[in-house]
Amino acid sequence: MPRLQRGRCGICRTVSPITRVGIIGAGNVAARHADVLSTFPDVTIAGIADTDPHRAEALASRHGSPAYGGHAGLLAAGGLDAIYVCVPPFAHGNPERDALSCDLPLFVEKPLSLDPATAEKIADELDRRGLPSAVGHHWRYLDILHRARDLLADRPVRLALGYWLDKVPPVGWWLKPEMSGGQVLEQAVHVLDLARVLVGEVAMVHAVPAGSELDGEVDRATAAVLAFEGGAAGLLAATSLCGRKHRVGLEVHAEGITLDLSETRLVVDGETVIEDDGLAKTRVDREFINAVQGRPADVRVPYREALRTHRLAHAVARSAAGRTEVRLDR
Ligand SMILES: NC(=O)c1ccc[n+]([C@@H]2O[C@H](COP(=O)([O-])OP(=O)(O)OC[C@H]3O[C@@H](n4cnc5c(N)ncnc54)[C@H](O)[C@@H]3O)[C@@H](O)[C@H]2O)c1
Repeated sequence: MPRLQRGRCGICRTVSPITRVGIIGAGNVAARHADVLSTFPDVTIAGIADTDPHRAEALASRHGSPAYGGHAGLLAAGGLDAIYVCVPPFAHGNPERDALSCDLPLFVEKPLSLDPATAEKIADELDRRGLPSAVGHHWRYLDILHRARDLLADRPVRLALGYWLDKVPPVGWWLKPEMSGGQVLEQAVHVLDLARVLVGEVAMVHAVPAGSELDGEVDRATAAVLAFEGGAAGLLAATSLCGRKHRVGLEVHAEGITLDLSETRLVVDGETVIEDDGLAKTRVDREFINAVQGRPADVRVPYREALRTHRLAHAVARSAAGRTEVRLDR
């Protein structure tokens, strides 16, 4: 039996027993979500849209779904319960706005947008409509993150060292600042999000870019100082100069304890290794679907929460561009 779910704005939506998901953007991350979603017995991938129709067709055919050459066609076909927005940074805005005008819950991949204003408006519209949302900060679902929080329970972090030392990702838009927004916004935003969880909010950032050998490319390295509201000091280092993924994660120091957290393991005091259970990328999708279905849901990063991390990443990027400190308003 279809169920009715009332959004905070009072609009009733019919939630079908099988949740029908539409996906906008048919690249790497969309393929990952589609693979996870297709393992859920109560979800069907109802359509996939990409401005490159070949990419839409390639992913849609793997999931027995219709393909569309843009999000307008997918939304016009109707019958959807939720939308995944899996487009590159420069393409955020219209897909979310149009999906929201159809009153559809949103799962949005990070980063939320190239310019802060686009994301602020989407957050306001989500709130106004009272719709469920989630953002692809799947690190929040690592089971080792719980362990880290427990270990730090009565010991405030005093020093945080964040890293994203990696190669250039294999997507054509990534090195173009006007398309990706640069490495801090595009990648290190995951680490900044972790730092907010384990250390707290950031009051001030001062970043220094290494500059690019090629005009018009994103900075290939950035170093930033972070001052946390609670008094902790932090450093963030990002580079895409490596030949392979070198180091990605967050190291934190509190009285008598050092934790080093990556996407796969937590190392305590340089000795004890705790492996993650590897289910974070499943949980991030499952909890969003639970929310769409009106069930109890543990969505750890709804859009407005992601917006706080997004503002921080933008502050670091702005600081690097202006070579000056940037204070964050609360
Ligand atoms: N959370 C994570 O772990 C994770 C992992 C990978 C990528 N991502 C994020 O996902 C986003 C996409 O990354 P990707 O690796 O999938 O990129 P990609 O280039 O492989 O795929 C993006 C797709 O979006 C399509 N597209 C562009 N504009 C569009 C529009 N207006 N409407 C519909 N389709 C459009 C492109 O044609 C392309 O097929 C990036 O912002 C990236 O940071 C997140």
